Amino acid sequence: MQRILVWDWPTRIGHWVMAIAFLIAYVTGESEEWRLVHVWAGGTLAGVVVFRLIWGLIGSRHARFFSFIRSPRAARDYLLGLLHGNTEHHTGHNPAGGYAILALLVLGLATAATGWPVYQDIGGEWLGELHEGVVNAMLAVVLIHLAGVLVGSLAHRENLPRAMVTGYKLGRSEEAISGPAIWAVPLLLACALFSAWWLSL
Ligand code: HEM
Repeated sequence: MQRILVWDWPTRIGHWVMAIAFLIAYVTGESEEWRLVHVWAGGTLAGVVVFRLIWGLIGSRHARFFSFIRSPRAARDYLLGLLHGNTEHHTGHNPAGGYAILALLVLGLATAATGWPVYQDIGGEWLGELHEGVVNAMLAVVLIHLAGVLVGSLAHRENLPRAMVTGYKLGRSEEAISGPAIWAVPLLLACALFSAWWLSL
């Protein structure tokens, strides 16, 4: 095994924008004074989630859903293996992490879809409560995600957060991705415009 490029730059930038947008939206959620910042962070989250969903279909090898959404049995076997000290290394996301990622994307979309009508004063109090419930579910998955990243880093003796910054992880040379993924630029711009348009409504 050697250090190879695994995460393309749109996946990495998308990840950190998503993480920061979520944290900002979460801490400003209860404040009237920071309402606009909250809404902008939510809109950014929505744009980046839409981007990531499309990128999961057309992005580079390890970013594609087909490469990391495995059967529930594979996820269970991976977790059981961890408990028994059998640390099966995955060059991309591990099978359990894949489900957490899917949950984060779906909940990110649901957060934005319930938050926007609340901001527009559409729907009653129940919608506000639903938005809060979805956000809390997302926070729970974020905490599980962080615990998974920590356990995975320790189990595989590999700094996974650093890999999400540099893009490099341990793997076989034939698993490396190549190319600057330049076609992501128009897609990213389209998603940013989508966010800006949505927020201007
Ligand atoms: C300081 C906080 C965070 C750290 C250190 C972190 C770290 C990581 C790492 C290391 C991975 C790759 C896991 C792997 O190797 O399989 C990852 C993936 C991911 N994380 Fe985080 N994460 C953080 C916060 C968040 C937050 C707040 C969210 C969502 C709101 C999030 C959403 C995701 C998603 C969607 C992926 C999949 C990346 C992709 O394939 O596009 N992360 N994170």
